[in-house]
Amino acid sequence: MEYRRLGTTGVTVSAVAMGCWAIAGDWVWGEQDEQASIATIHAALDAGINFFDTAEAYGDGASETLLGKALAGRRHGVVIATKVSDAHLHRDALLQACERSLKRLNTDYIDLYQIHWPNWEVPLAETVEALDRLQQQGKVRAVGVSNFGVRDLTDLLALGRCVTNQLPYSLLWRAIEFEIRQKCIDNDVGILCYSPLSQGLLTGKFASADDVPETRARTRFFSSERRLTRHGEDGCEAETFAAVSAIRRICAAIGAPMEQVALAWLLRQPGVTAVLAGARTPDQIRQNADAAQLHLSPDVVDALTAATDALKGRLGPNPDQYQSVARMR
Ligand SMILES: NC(=O)c1ccc[n+]([C@@H]2O[C@H](COP(=O)([O-])OP(=O)(O)OC[C@H]3O[C@@H](n4cnc5c(N)ncnc54)[C@H](OP(=O)(O)O)[C@@H]3O)[C@@H](O)[C@H]2O)c1
Repeated sequence: MEYRRLGTTGVTVSAVAMGCWAIAGDWVWGEQDEQASIATIHAALDAGINFFDTAEAYGDGASETLLGKALAGRRHGVVIATKVSDAHLHRDALLQACERSLKRLNTDYIDLYQIHWPNWEVPLAETVEALDRLQQQGKVRAVGVSNFGVRDLTDLLALGRCVTNQLPYSLLWRAIEFEIRQKCIDNDVGILCYSPLSQGLLTGKFASADDVPETRARTRFFSSERRLTRHGEDGCEAETFAAVSAIRRICAAIGAPMEQVALAWLLRQPGVTAVLAGARTPDQIRQNADAAQLHLSPDVVDALTAATDALKGRLGPNPDQYQSVARMR
């Protein structure tokens, strides 16, 4: 495993982190066996992963509870990142949300507490003050944000600091390269890449858009004719699956699994601290962890980048996977 510094903190985290959304087994991911989830977390630890990302919203607290249970007795060797929901950004609501997360996580401190989504209805200064207070109390070690674009990050940096910005970033989803990535780099804000496998598209398990479960076919890759989308755009299903085919050919030529190649490509990108790879089974997390050891030559990195350039152009600079720019939060 490779370890990297978490933003400007003295904390080191594994370059491949475990994303703990899917193990909550919610309406997006479907049923999930609790023992399998706990075994997956233990397999992550055994593979050298020390960094776990969760949120109060995942399974309405179920993901945090599972993580707390699985990490019992091993808490001090790991770095826990969780998130406060955008509905809880007023001072009192945030302080209470943090207490609930601490309880579910079975710990007395959170290593990285992140604002899940910006909420323009709540004064940012109020949220920042509440987060400062939690840090002073030792309940939170470092503060991060998530889904903050240039405008939100600029506002936040005028008021205080954040060590990381968690953004959707994958070989298929490169919108952050247009603008926000550079803003993060310029301000020493580490990028945590979410949906780094584009929710399974980059494992090669889906041959066409019709194969993707409806609850995952909600992003701007998919046509707005699909029932659960809310972006109102045409989507770019043909371009997405053409890019997946091109990536598949490159992976076959170098004899490496697509999911590992996709994660290794991300780890070579500027500004990236860690990839938050979701996994539901011990085998998946072991395969994902091995991506940290996969060496890609500069030629292969360039070929992969070229394979998704057209898709990047088609999707444009809006980093929001779910909403059109007009309806972006
Ligand atoms: N801040 C935010 O707003 C935000 C939003 C989304 C996600 N996140 C974070 O990012 C993490 C990862 O994102 P994500 O869960 O959306 O998607 P992802 O990591 O791109 O995809 C994860 C899914 O892909 C499949 N998979 C993973 N590894 C595999 C392997 N080696 N072989 C085959 N299939 C594999 C699994 O589902 P199946 O087995 O069911 O196919 C898994 O649940 C989340 O857990 C969460 O921590 C944050």
